[in-house]
Amino acid sequence: MSGCPFHDGAQANPAAPLHDRSSNSEPATQAPGATQAPGATQAPGATQAPGATQAPGAAKADTRAAAPQSETQNELACPVSHRHRSEETHRPIAVVTGASQGIGHAIVRKFYDHGWKVYTLARTPFSSVCPWAEGMTQHISVDLSDEASVRIAVDVLKEQLGDRPLNALVNNAGISPKNEQGLRLDATETDLSTYERVMMVNVFAPLLLTRGLLEPLQQGKGAVVNVSSIAGSRIHPFAGAAYAMSKSALSAMTRELAFELGRKGVRVNSVAPGEIETAILSAGTDKIVQTQVPMNRIGNPKEVADVVMFLCSEAASYVNGSEIQIDGGQHIGS
Ligand SMILES: NC(=O)c1ccc[n+]([C@@H]2O[C@H](COP(=O)([O-])OP(=O)(O)OC[C@H]3O[C@@H](n4cnc5c(N)ncnc54)[C@H](OP(=O)(O)O)[C@@H]3O)[C@@H](O)[C@H]2O)c1
Repeated sequence: MSGCPFHDGAQANPAAPLHDRSSNSEPATQAPGATQAPGATQAPGATQAPGATQAPGAAKADTRAAAPQSETQNELACPVSHRHRSEETHRPIAVVTGASQGIGHAIVRKFYDHGWKVYTLARTPFSSVCPWAEGMTQHISVDLSDEASVRIAVDVLKEQLGDRPLNALVNNAGISPKNEQGLRLDATETDLSTYERVMMVNVFAPLLLTRGLLEPLQQGKGAVVNVSSIAGSRIHPFAGAAYAMSKSALSAMTRELAFELGRKGVRVNSVAPGEIETAILSAGTDKIVQTQVPMNRIGNPKEVADVVMFLCSEAASYVNGSEIQIDGGQHIGS
């Protein structure tokens, strides 16, 4: 896939398998510098990311240098590139969960392409086979089904952000468990532990991340985008009861948080994708697309990433508490 931050740049490896569905279940090798939260896939050699936290003195030095002299004069007088550091200081920062594949991967790519600094979260350690320029020091391995792991990831993120603001949090990671035949889990056949796991990953982890990162989000006048689903508002033949209930709750949580945080300068919105081409889809999706989607085609992860980017941008500065359907018209019924 061209233009992908995981494949572009000096370290790019065109044969890297991150987009290959079959490779997605295989945890990649932990890259040096990536951070691991307990409960996530074990990664030998994982350490706190060096250099991710901005040295407090660096920003001050930029401010002082900018005042009395032109940038060119500074460059002549000083061997350190102030331009680079001031660009670095002003880059907006995003945190994206479920970044290892599918829609999350496309979101990371979109933000990265637009000059954002992106902190990525997933269980899969960051790939040393398929790295991108800053990815190694900005990936945090976390198991969102484990509350302790999520809390530690919040602490790690806050430490890495230092006193920098956070401009966007994209709660994208989600799970949709099936029964042994690979079919939807009905409400009466889903055991309580499955409900709990789905609610933890799909609802409570986004809540803990939003709450835990509220201060830097407020500082950045940031935006939160929760990735819900068409299954949150109607019966879906494959999605299952626990998944549907969790997405419905996520949409309600979006509304509640938008109400609470709007006055603090943080906007909270959600997107509700329909049938998007990723590993989460079940066999038979083609038939749904033919019969239920007015546009008569499946969606691309990039088309979700575009809307998420919009919701995090200035262009959406008065959009709060909204849910945007990204489903080719599937929600209007056939
Ligand atoms: N594709 C669709 O048609 C569609 C439709 C409606 C809504 N959605 C929603 O869109 C979001 C992304 O879906 P997708 O299709 O891109 O799914 P996907 O390809 O299955 O990717 C799911 C992502 O979530 C991460 N994840 C899963 N469990 C996790 C855990 N316990 N801890 C940390 N990370 C975890 C995975 O990373 P690791 O495995 O590396 O941990 C992966 O990056 C989900 O919320 C999904 O419900 C998708």
